Amino acid sequence: MIKKKRILTGDRPTGKLHLGHYVGSLANRVALQEDYDAFVIVADVQALTTDWEYPEQLAESVRQVTEDYLAVGIDPEQTTIFVQSLVPQIAELTVFYSNFVSVNVLRHNPTIKTEAEQRGYSDMTYGFLGYPISQAADITFCKADLVPVGQDQVPHIEFTRRIARRFNELYGPVLVVPEVLVGEVGRLVGLDGKAKMSKSLNNAIYLSDSPQEVEAKVRKAVTDPARIRATDPGHPEVCTVFAYHQIFNKEESEDIAERCRAGTISCVACKKRLTEKLNQLLEPMHERRLAYQNNPKIIDEILLAGTDRAQKIAEETMKEVRQAMKINYFSQ
Ligand code: TRP
Repeated sequence: MIKKKRILTGDRPTGKLHLGHYVGSLANRVALQEDYDAFVIVADVQALTTDWEYPEQLAESVRQVTEDYLAVGIDPEQTTIFVQSLVPQIAELTVFYSNFVSVNVLRHNPTIKTEAEQRGYSDMTYGFLGYPISQAADITFCKADLVPVGQDQVPHIEFTRRIARRFNELYGPVLVVPEVLVGEVGRLVGLDGKAKMSKSLNNAIYLSDSPQEVEAKVRKAVTDPARIRATDPGHPEVCTVFAYHQIFNKEESEDIAERCRAGTISCVACKKRLTEKLNQLLEPMHERRLAYQNNPKIIDEILLAGTDRAQKIAEETMKEVRQAMKINYFSQ
C-alpha cells in the first residue's frame, strides 16, 4: 500500500464558520479527505493571541467549530480533528523555530499587518506577532505535505516553508516543506460589497444560518447601484449578488448575466434564486448538525481520539527533532 500524503489545516475557534471559510478551505478538506491522511487543528492557542482576555469563551467555540466541521461533511473516520493546546509538542517546536526567525520578517507579514490594523493594535504582543511561528509548528509536527487554506493564509504557509527549509539546513533533513492549496475561491467578497466576508465586518452568512436568516441577509445585499427600476439594464460585473451566483450557482450564472443586462430579471428575483441555491447547499449541513447536536458527547469523543493520535505523531517528530538538534542528551 502506498502511504497517503498528509494534509493539515485548521481554524481559530473564535466563532461560527461562514461561507467564506467554506469556499476558501472547508470544501477542499471534504473533497480531499478520502485520498489524503487529513488533519484538522482547532487552533485554540492561536485564538488566545487575540482573545487572551476572554479564555472562558474558548470551550464553547471549540465545540462550535468542531460542529461546523462535522456539519460540512468532514468525516472523523477519515480526518483527525484535534485541539492545539493538548499537543504541547507544538509549543515546544514553536520555541525552537523562534530562534531562527527575525522580528523584522514577522513584522512584514501582510496578513499580520492587515489583522493588526483591523483590530486597532497600536503595538503588538509578542504572541500575536509570532503566531505564524506556532502555525509553522502546527503544520510541521505531523509533516504535512499539503495545506488547504484561503488566500489570506498564503503568507503564513510561505513562512512555514522557509522555517522548514531553514531547520533542515541547520540541523538535518527532518521536516517536510509543505505545499499550499488555495480554494477555488480564495477570498469571498462580503454581501455588503466589502472585500471579504468576515465575522468582524458583520457581513457573514454562517453555515449554521437558517433558511430565513439566509433570505434576510441576501435581501439586504448590495447590487448594481446604477439599477433603480427592475427593467433598467444591469451590470453583473459590478454586482455582489452576481459574484455569488458565479460561485454558488455556476450553471445558471451566464443566463442570469444576460437577463440582468437585458433588464429581464429583477434584482428581487435574482436574489431569490441565490437564496434558494445557498439554502440547498446548507440544508444537508443542517441535517448533519442536528444529528450531532442530538448526541453532544460524540464531539468530545471525536476531539479526544483525534488529539490522542496527533500527540503520538507529534512525539515521534519531536524525537527526530531533538536528535537532529543534538539535545537528546540521555536517550541514545
Ligand atoms: N491562521 C488560521 C486562520 O486564522 C488558522 C490556523 C492555525 C491554521 N493553524 C493552522 C491554518 C495551520 C492552516 C494550518 O484561519
